[in-house]
Amino acid sequence: MSEQQHRSKSGFETRAIHAGYEPDAATGAVIPPIYATSTYKQDGVGGLRGGYEYSRSANPTRTALEGNIAALEEGERGFAFASGLAAEDTLVRALCRPGDHVVIPDDAYGGTFRLFDKVEQAWGLDHSPAPVSDLDRVAAAIRPGQTRLVWVETPTNPLLNIGDIEALAAIAHDAGALLVVDNTFASPYLQQPLTLGADVVVHSTTKYCGGHSDVVGGALVVRDLEIAEKVTFHQNAIGAVAGPFDAWLTLRGLKTLALRMERHCDNAERVVDFLTSHPAVGEVIYPGLETHPGHEVAQRQMKRYGGMVSFRVRGGESQALAVCERTEVFTLGESLGGVESLIEHPGRMTHASVAGTDLEVPADLVRLSVGIETADDLVADLERALG
Ligand SMILES: Cc1ncc(COP(=O)(O)O)c(C=O)c1O
Repeated sequence: MSEQQHRSKSGFETRAIHAGYEPDAATGAVIPPIYATSTYKQDGVGGLRGGYEYSRSANPTRTALEGNIAALEEGERGFAFASGLAAEDTLVRALCRPGDHVVIPDDAYGGTFRLFDKVEQAWGLDHSPAPVSDLDRVAAAIRPGQTRLVWVETPTNPLLNIGDIEALAAIAHDAGALLVVDNTFASPYLQQPLTLGADVVVHSTTKYCGGHSDVVGGALVVRDLEIAEKVTFHQNAIGAVAGPFDAWLTLRGLKTLALRMERHCDNAERVVDFLTSHPAVGEVIYPGLETHPGHEVAQRQMKRYGGMVSFRVRGGESQALAVCERTEVFTLGESLGGVESLIEHPGRMTHASVAGTDLEVPADLVRLSVGIETADDLVADLERALG
């Protein structure tokens, strides 16, 4: 089946397993080899085989991953990077210039906020935080003529707020800006922002795409060839690319994304059921709950509600820290989206870089990345930890 057919005709699971790579012409290898090579023999000066010249510019293992993730997001082109933040930085420098402005989520992932606040700001790019769930405030944060990007996460990290992608795209486009959606929490299985009007999708593939907590990576997917050209240039010019082994691991992870996400969602729903009735828990934050303010939008634009669950612990920060330290099946650690369950305290860990800013997260907040273990074991572990 051709690449085009994969994109337009096949189901998600078929694309996840086949898109981006045809069995090797010489050997029939069903899985792309790890092309551990920095350079390529030329057939005469400029006589490139398949366009490969130097592995910063392109590498066949990376090409396979880039084609695969583009097909999953229903985009035109995919790009793989050394980390999610490397993807973000490359995108910003491809699309913005000093003097421009971007709107960012007021509860963005801490590293994304740090990138805009400490790195892009020093380069001359200004930013304004706005809540992704409040369309009026996003519109009000736009500076006509100066805002190049409206950047959203949905669901956000760690407060799981939901932005209406279709409506946000209309707001951004009316102002002459582009909509960028960080789709890390949903993964392409649960949500495809490009089909809802977004211009660029960002992933930390470290998370659900890789899915096994064994590789750090990032990706961009775009639907417009003009944007693709700019990103291609900057990907090569900046050089923060995914290495072939990292690309291979991520591609391997993507093949089982659909299965894993279904189980992440099943287990998260079990955990949410348990937490909502526990007396030591103040508030459970999960877009699948009818009481979640973004529930209706999430229902419209997501297939299910994902594996991330946040909750507030009665008794404040000390109790929240104690819960994080008492679990045994949930491992205390940063990151998310792997097969194993993780627990963390965003205020002291992933979001420490926003402490003291408007983006500070509540001190009694605990974030769970619910893995694909036996659900009963996860619930029993939380029951023990909550006391
Ligand atoms: C939503 C989100 N976006 C981007 C990133 C950055 O990705 P990476 O850690 O791969 O650089 C993260 C990392 O946790 C994240 O959670």
